[in-house]
Amino acid sequence: MNLLYWSLGFFLSISSTTYAAAPKETATPEPCTIRSPHTGSFFDLNPLHIPDPRTVKSKNARDYSWNATGWDMGYNFTMNFCGGVVERLEDFGGVEGVDKDLWRNVSAYYRQGGKVYSIGQQNTSPVIRGRKMVMNYTNGSPCPEPRKRAYLGDELDTREIVGDDKDDDESDRPKVPGRTKTTIISMLCDRDPLMPQLTLSFIASPDECTYFFEARSSAACAGIQQSTQTLSPSGVFGVIMMIAIIVYVVGGCVYSRMVLNQRGWRQLPNYSLWAGIFGFFKDIVIIATSSCARFMPSRRGYSRVNGDIGGMGSGRSGRDSESANRLIDELNEDWDDEF
Ligand SMILES: *[C@@H]1O[C@H](CO)[C@@H](O)[C@H](O)[C@H]1NC(C)=O
Ligand SMILES: *[C@@H]1O[C@H](CO)[C@@H](O)[C@H](O)[C@H]1NC(C)=O
Ligand SMILES: *[C@@H]1O[C@H](CO)[C@@H](O)[C@H](O)[C@H]1NC(C)=O
Ligand SMILES: *[C@@H]1O[C@H](CO)[C@@H](O)[C@H](O)[C@H]1NC(C)=O
Repeated sequence: MNLLYWSLGFFLSISSTTYAAAPKETATPEPCTIRSPHTGSFFDLNPLHIPDPRTVKSKNARDYSWNATGWDMGYNFTMNFCGGVVERLEDFGGVEGVDKDLWRNVSAYYRQGGKVYSIGQQNTSPVIRGRKMVMNYTNGSPCPEPRKRAYLGDELDTREIVGDDKDDDESDRPKVPGRTKTTIISMLCDRDPLMPQLTLSFIASPDECTYFFEARSSAACAGIQQSTQTLSPSGVFGVIMMIAIIVYVVGGCVYSRMVLNQRGWRQLPNYSLWAGIFGFFKDIVIIATSSCARFMPSRRGYSRVNGDIGGMGSGRSGRDSESANRLIDELNEDWDDEF
């Protein structure tokens, strides 16, 4: 029975260590990923990141970011996820009201009247609001004062200003102190394989300071966190093999003990088979070690094996050397036959 308890104890200790090692919760999430605290689902927006084509080796790397039609705004939007846009904004004359060092970190922008306006710097921390994932970009270009028409909503005023207001360039308007453009993107899961990787729609901008978008993508669907899967496929196979062996040993022991009434090592399943295999390997080891010893010139083992013939070997080692000698002789004959 000891053997049975020993096997069970071994099995339990092995399985507890493997399970303890597997799910390691990382305190700081990977960039651009988030785990919903309510449902536990995991989101990874990294597939939406378009890498900088200057750093990508591939010949036909994509050289433009995601874009969205602005419709009545009069301009279109360009943006990237989990990093700055791939367009070189210094080629367009730089970004209004943003430090030169941060131009490469602009994650969303639009162009109007020959000027580039950032609507947010890069951000790698999505937020979960209920069941919804939201991404926001902050610290864009300074916000302009609202247009008078939208601000007052007065019929009389509208008629007066409508003429100038039409092609009014944002750069002519005074800035709101301390406010910068912000983008809020509502991420929607879309598993349709026929759809493009991302469909980005501009929703509205009530004050030309905050811009709302809707993004549909399979990257916004809850998935499996890859990084916590510490076991590789071969590791999983190894664990399965180990469990199978343990089940074989434990189950075989129980069967031998209860049904065949075996005791001691004979409880092991297929004891005679394993004993035979073990004996076979033992022979191989004996052959290997003694024939190796033969090739070492000044080893005592060699002289003793040979010396046995001359009657030098005696006592305890006599019988061992004799059998080893016989094995080596057989081996030698085999080799002689071959060459
Ligand atoms: C997005 O950008 C690409 C490349 O500049 C352009 O071909 C495409 O028409 C643009 N789409 C929109 C909606 O602006
Ligand atoms: C915005 O994109 C649409 C469709 O891609 C295009 O027809 C339009 O000319 C673009 N507008 C600007 C200002 O680039
Ligand atoms: C700006 O982008 C670079 C890489 O392009 C990155 O190393 C750096 O941390 C970013 N800076 C900020 C403030 O996000
Ligand atoms: C924008 O995202 C940051 C985290 O990336 C979050 O702390 C902040 O509350 C968000 N702001 C808005 C207005 O959603």
